[in-house]
Amino acid sequence: MTNVNIPNVGQIPNLPLGAVVETNATFRSNELRPVMAGNIPDDIYALISRIVGEQLLMVEAATERDIEKNDKIAEELKADIKETFSDMLEFLGNIPLTRSDCVIALGGGVVGDLTGFTAATYLRGISYIQIPTTLLAAVDSSVGGKTAIDMEGIKNYVGAFHQPKRVIIDPEVLKTLPKRHVSNGLAEALKMAATFDEELFSLFEEGEPTENMERIIFRSVELKARVVEQDEKEQGLRKVLNFGHTAAHAIETATGLGDLLHGECVALGIPPMCGEKIRDDVIAVLQNVGLPTEYIFAKSKVKEIISHDKKSQGGTISVVK
Ligand code: GLY
Repeated sequence: MTNVNIPNVGQIPNLPLGAVVETNATFRSNELRPVMAGNIPDDIYALISRIVGEQLLMVEAATERDIEKNDKIAEELKADIKETFSDMLEFLGNIPLTRSDCVIALGGGVVGDLTGFTAATYLRGISYIQIPTTLLAAVDSSVGGKTAIDMEGIKNYVGAFHQPKRVIIDPEVLKTLPKRHVSNGLAEALKMAATFDEELFSLFEEGEPTENMERIIFRSVELKARVVEQDEKEQGLRKVLNFGHTAAHAIETATGLGDLLHGECVALGIPPMCGEKIRDDVIAVLQNVGLPTEYIFAKSKVKEIISHDKKSQGGTISVVK
């Protein structure tokens, strides 16, 4: 089995963080150089400097606290992803970054996936650190080493499994997110809870989930790390983490993403994948978290995409009972 560098969940002493997930990274390189888009807020900049000391290197993209601006930066990065990817490679080559250097993905899922993929391919792979600034990236996409870019109209068309050296999560940053973006991230945490952990699921049932945000983040990451440790390349167990995503991706494709966020599409995709016995409970919890459970879209188109997806996955789709 592949030896995966799995995060140790713990605190880095003397850092202003509520929770930190880290691997045993070693870094060399002499400078901290912010690049690409983004004004790095002073506190985040100071945080990164303290984590990496005098070492390290490059910081990427969506670093504003303003989530709308973040979303806009992500859209711009995605608009011509081939060019963005090529610009990043050129940028790294011009520094030049060496195999001993490291890239930091500071932003949401788009930034993490793109930066991770660039790190995976540049010089056949250099290190990178994930510092997710959205809840969705914190509880899911920043952990586990899936990196990719969308191309040819297909999601994650080109990608690699490339584990980050560290995933650093600051719940204080995440608490500044607007409610809709919190709900968006909670959809992925809820997916983890529904498939793996009754206790985590109960945090969504009782009261206001945002009051338990740190526990939810911590537990989601811990669960995901365990799954990835056992099945990094998604040969079996890791497929469970795609719960709700078959329909979600179909909805995203059918609606051209429309005005829905990814976690909202996951929320819409979860109930159809639940057995009757648990479906109502799951819908109640999704609603408690402020996620949509109904949306008007072309169902026939979604079905057609799902059936295409089903063929490409070997003819079966699993349901959680
Ligand atoms: N987002 C699902 C996974 O990382 O496997």
